[in-house]
Amino acid sequence: MSVYEKMDLMKTDKRDIDGPDGAGIQKMFNEIAGSYDLLNRILSFGIDNRWRRKGLSMFNRRAPLRLLDLGCGTGDLSRLSFRFGFTSVVGADFSMEMLLKGKPGNRDFSGISLCAADAGRLPFKDSSFTSCCIAFAVRNFQDRGGALREISRVLDDSGELMIIEFSMPGSRLIRFMYNIYFFHILPVIGWAVSGNYRAYKYLPQSVGKFPSVEDFSELILGSGFSRVRAARLTLGIAHIYLAVK
Ligand SMILES: C[S@@+](CC[C@H](N)C(=O)[O-])C[C@H]1O[C@@H](n2cnc3c(N)ncnc32)[C@H](O)[C@@H]1O
Repeated sequence: MSVYEKMDLMKTDKRDIDGPDGAGIQKMFNEIAGSYDLLNRILSFGIDNRWRRKGLSMFNRRAPLRLLDLGCGTGDLSRLSFRFGFTSVVGADFSMEMLLKGKPGNRDFSGISLCAADAGRLPFKDSSFTSCCIAFAVRNFQDRGGALREISRVLDDSGELMIIEFSMPGSRLIRFMYNIYFFHILPVIGWAVSGNYRAYKYLPQSVGKFPSVEDFSELILGSGFSRVRAARLTLGIAHIYLAVK
């Protein structure tokens, strides 16, 4: 290996070395799209939707609102956003299967349009949106700083970004119980329902490798946002970040 190749490897996030790369993640979500919604409800005991509602309630901007739901998957958050004043929503995701799985559910929501897009190269003009939300997707982005800068570009002045993401609980006892559930129970249930063990083994691994709340907040601030605050959810197993451009 040449010195230059070694230097490149050192610059690479560890995730890129031992986790799936962008294409691998895309393939994985395409594979589990069929059972994704059902498994979400089972594995989170329904808490995920409570978190989504809380996240959407934290936006401060008033109508008219144009929302980008990035890494929208099957579109739960896009549809829910209509209860929070949003009337125009673009759901973007790089997994075509996830978009297609969610599409029938959008029938009653004429304000939703779907777009196949990678978070690192958003096909939208500058200042296209007032608001952006990302639920449980940002930890999968290969170049998070690049994606955050792209989001900042497509948000208008004082545009808001809301992110919901898992985090490691601070308490040792909770972390112990969390690890048992996430590393040993969840992959087995995931495998039993979806037939894909690898995808549900990846989930806790990716949470473990996600930066701390402080480090991720710093990354947001260094990527085109002027303010950020984080709200802790359910024993610290997830956080909501609200950032303003
Ligand atoms: C765990 S799912 C979350 C879906 C949805 N936001 C929800 O709340 O249920 C993560 C989604 O992020 C998408 N995703 C991951 N990396 C992406 C990227 N670089 N660009 C666009 N979408 C991405 C995946 O395809 C997947 O649909």
